[in-house]
Amino acid sequence: MKTIFSGIQPSGVITLGNYVGAIKQFVELQNDFDCYFCVVDQHAITVPQDRLVLRKNIRTLAALYIAAGLDHEKSTLFIQSEVPAHAQAGWMLQCIAYIGELERMTQFKDKSTGKDAVSAGLLTYPPLMAADILLYGADLVPVGEDQKQHLELTRDLAERFNNKYNDIFTIPEVRIPKIGARVMSLQEPTKKMSKSDANQRAFITLLDDPKQIEKKIKSAVTDSEGIVKYDRENKPGVSNLLSIYSILDNKTIEEIEVYYDGKGYGEFKTDLAEVVVNALAPIQERCNNLLESKELDDILDAGAEKAAFKANKMLKKMENAMGLGRKKR
Ligand code: TYM
Repeated sequence: MKTIFSGIQPSGVITLGNYVGAIKQFVELQNDFDCYFCVVDQHAITVPQDRLVLRKNIRTLAALYIAAGLDHEKSTLFIQSEVPAHAQAGWMLQCIAYIGELERMTQFKDKSTGKDAVSAGLLTYPPLMAADILLYGADLVPVGEDQKQHLELTRDLAERFNNKYNDIFTIPEVRIPKIGARVMSLQEPTKKMSKSDANQRAFITLLDDPKQIEKKIKSAVTDSEGIVKYDRENKPGVSNLLSIYSILDNKTIEEIEVYYDGKGYGEFKTDLAEVVVNALAPIQERCNNLLESKELDDILDAGAEKAAFKANKMLKKMENAMGLGRKKR
């Protein structure tokens, strides 16, 4: 059976973008693959975090994985920092990565430009991501569009390691959804929706209440044309709302366009808010129940144990290939 690995950073409460671009794919894939889904908390500390908020976000993200449909009987669900092999393998891969290729990562450029204090971790984060994936021998990595470049680097590092040391890594393929690969900001629809956006109205989190959702959708930037039509180039705001509607209500974009023919943005936005509220309500209810349960911690304990068992085997192979430690007697 083929293996899948993916992860999400607990750097805030996750957004509709993370749900549509990542988690919805995870839920579909878990029936057919050996899946590992991780809360990548070590990635989150590449930028400053408040420790109490981070702790809360880690557990909440794990609860949201399950609430959104991930089943611990089918997938291994765990927290990155609870499996030390990730940081260990990440270090080894940092040592074969070149500074130049890391500086070329667009995410690094976006997050570091204009900042005077940028952590070294922000630069060396992609080899840690590569370690996450390669430790499990993942064949496929489901992500949104913005992670494509990191996946290409992962493949390069795997090939470099295989050629230089020993052929131990599977070269992973990226899997990007057909629609929803890039959910855009509600305020600046040419920019991706991000949980770290300073403008709270730019994104919807999975835990927003109905009033917040309605407000954010009502104030979403559109255009003055008043026609509900998909046109990414000329109507990025409306096109983004149409994509969200289509994915969450299981209708094609054409069906929605036909339905709103002759109707204005007001009605379209009111209905979309209802679609989003209805899609998130059951997830929120399950999430809240899980957060209060011991079951969540039991699932994560078992997940970390299972993940470590697999990851440690690959870590040993990496250490042997590079000549670290003493030869086992
Ligand atoms: P992160 O935490 O920024 O995002 C998690 C997942 O959500 C997708 N995503 C989006 N999809 C559609 N529209 C958006 N607006 C949107 N915003 C985010 C991302 O593409 C991603 O799939 N480096 C990764 C985390 C990571 C990882 C890994 C992923 C660490 N190790 C190993 C896969 C495999 C990140 O920062 O994602």
